[in-house]
Amino acid sequence: MKQALTILLLSIICVGAFAQQSTLVNDVAISSVNQNGNWLSYGRTHSEQRFSPLTQITKENVSSLRPDWYFPIPNSRSLVSTPLVVDGVIYFIASLNVVRALNAETGEELWSFNPRVGTIAPGRMRAGWDNSRGIAIWEGKLFVATWDGRLIGLDRNTGEQLWSTQTIDPDLAMYITGAPKAFEGKVLVGNGGTENGPNRGYVTAYDANTGEQVWRFWIVPGNPAEGFENDAMEMAANTWTGEWWRHGGGGNSWHGWTYDAELQQLYIGTGNGSPWNRKIRSPFGGDNLFLDSIVALNPDNGEYLWHHQNTPGETWDYNSNMDIVLADLSVEGETIKALMQAPKNGFFYVINRINGELVSAEKITEVTWASHIDIETARPAELPGVRYESEPIRISPGPVGAHSWHAMSYNPNTGLVYIPSIHTSTIYGDTGIDTETFQRGQWRLSTGVNQRPGGSTRNDAPASLQAWDPVRQEQVWEVLADNTWNAGTLTTTTNLLFQGRADGYLVAYDAETGQELWNYDLGLGISAPPITYSVAGKQYLALLVGWGGSMAALGGRGAAQRGWSYGAQERRLIAFSLSGTLDLPRQAPPLVPEPLPSSDFVVNADLAAEGGREFNGTCSMCHGGGAIAAGIAPDLRASGIPLSREAFETVVRNGALSSNGMPIYRDLTDRQLESLRHYIRAQAESALTQ
Ligand code: HEC
Repeated sequence: MKQALTILLLSIICVGAFAQQSTLVNDVAISSVNQNGNWLSYGRTHSEQRFSPLTQITKENVSSLRPDWYFPIPNSRSLVSTPLVVDGVIYFIASLNVVRALNAETGEELWSFNPRVGTIAPGRMRAGWDNSRGIAIWEGKLFVATWDGRLIGLDRNTGEQLWSTQTIDPDLAMYITGAPKAFEGKVLVGNGGTENGPNRGYVTAYDANTGEQVWRFWIVPGNPAEGFENDAMEMAANTWTGEWWRHGGGGNSWHGWTYDAELQQLYIGTGNGSPWNRKIRSPFGGDNLFLDSIVALNPDNGEYLWHHQNTPGETWDYNSNMDIVLADLSVEGETIKALMQAPKNGFFYVINRINGELVSAEKITEVTWASHIDIETARPAELPGVRYESEPIRISPGPVGAHSWHAMSYNPNTGLVYIPSIHTSTIYGDTGIDTETFQRGQWRLSTGVNQRPGGSTRNDAPASLQAWDPVRQEQVWEVLADNTWNAGTLTTTTNLLFQGRADGYLVAYDAETGQELWNYDLGLGISAPPITYSVAGKQYLALLVGWGGSMAALGGRGAAQRGWSYGAQERRLIAFSLSGTLDLPRQAPPLVPEPLPSSDFVVNADLAAEGGREFNGTCSMCHGGGAIAAGIAPDLRASGIPLSREAFETVVRNGALSSNGMPIYRDLTDRQLESLRHYIRAQAESALTQ
């Protein structure tokens, strides 16, 4: 009797504890707009709309949002990812690819998983960054793609590792920052690396249960002498000239993977050329397929279906790795199964995703490389001189793009897309670069282009949040921003729009008018998009707060001035609700590190010049161009370590800080180490005397 009672009690407790745990995370669930308050994949549903049907938070009450719980994230910095929520558990990836599961009502940690990138692959960290844009879930498994190229399957309930697959040749300077995409029992991932060496991009699908490769699609053709992998590569090879394969070709797909459950197609956003300058990689011209394109693939076997190339023969670091958003649009009385994208090149594209036909394309910012896109031919009308043939030229947009990976959202009620857009230009040129003999090795930043900032293209603001009508292809409203690196957006069925900004504010807008309804100062730059979910009838708004991404690496003085310097403020996951009562501990104030004076270190100008070339080909990736750090790594002008040869060697060549994300540089010679110290000190002294 007693035993029976215990069993009865136990089963009641179990039912209580697991009452929520009912969602089977598969294509049906991920496709459904109404999925129980969950957020099951990167863009919430397979459509990537970042649109939530939750109705508790409205225009009327949004100003009552308060922090409900928060989770401090130790040893983190650049946080750019989208958390996922399944049945009351929130999962997220932070710096160095550490994944955690928390109780989504309380913030209590359930488990964590550390893929130990710094100890397993300290040398490989020389390429890329440790910021990941997210994770994926399929049934009971959760997938993590690591900086050093591993795709790992975890048990979602325990965080235990089930399998691990290396997706990148360890000798190649490629890395992963993208959120893997789970569909049809498979997990897809690509990689970045066009700037780090002569690399050739690809995406690969793996079996979600075993991690075994199912198929791979190469984005650009390899050496014809070795035979083409498929007909698509043979077709693509006709659009390349010279010995492109020696330069890798690029096209790396580091983000922008959308699965279309309705049409059973996969859309891959592809990258820019490797190197950037087309004169080098394809000297006699050519479109260079499939650079800067959207390629549709058969999800079963990775076979090519169709493509649309946004920028033929790209030569400006234009890529189409931005989110690809699916929606049914009513255009001139006809329903179009549309795919929408705002890639770097400044146009907003609407494409019929059944066949890849271009429906429309218009400029979302000043665009000076092309006058317009011809809808008949689906090709841009390029303007003269834009390929810096004879002299440097100012082009808008620059490599930062009119829109980068910061997610845009789409609200089917308003019919509008919400785009974090950027209005800057760059001066491109290749004077002094011998395009015929140009060569580069792995692990060094080099693009074959001389570039310098060309300034903002607008007097009123360097960036803005735009509400864009994809049918009429025009802006409906715009909110100006005083900085260029604002985070992705979220919209709800109550016609709210949320965005975190580089200045640390989380803001709610009326999605119809752009009127600001609420803001909250989080005391640290925001680079990750917010999500919303509900547990036990309560709606939450959650986001990661941790200034990051390439602007926090290479943003220069402007970004550094914000004061989100390395380690200065605490990185957090914060959940808001209408009944929240939490007083968030105050963040440390903005801090701009001061260069360290030293009367003992005498700079040798020749060594410093040598060191400058080394630094800006390797270290600048994290410590900033000109050694001006913008947040994801320490400002070395303010560090005492370069003052001591031994300490510098311990950190840089012997990897003393590799478990914290500082790569190991085993191959640097004594002279290179010395030259780096002299360069860093020269930069410190010059800043001190300014
Ligand atoms: C992928 C990013 C990345 C790259 C590339 C990188 N670093 Fe670092 N570095 C870091 C991070 C992160 C830290 C801080 C580690 C910590 O908190 O312990 C760091 C710390 C350091 C420090 C210690 C600073 C201090 O005061 O504690 C030195 C010195 C340094 N790096 C030099 C270099 C040099 C020289 C290069 C190029 C040869 C380089 N780093 C390239 C990320 C990077």
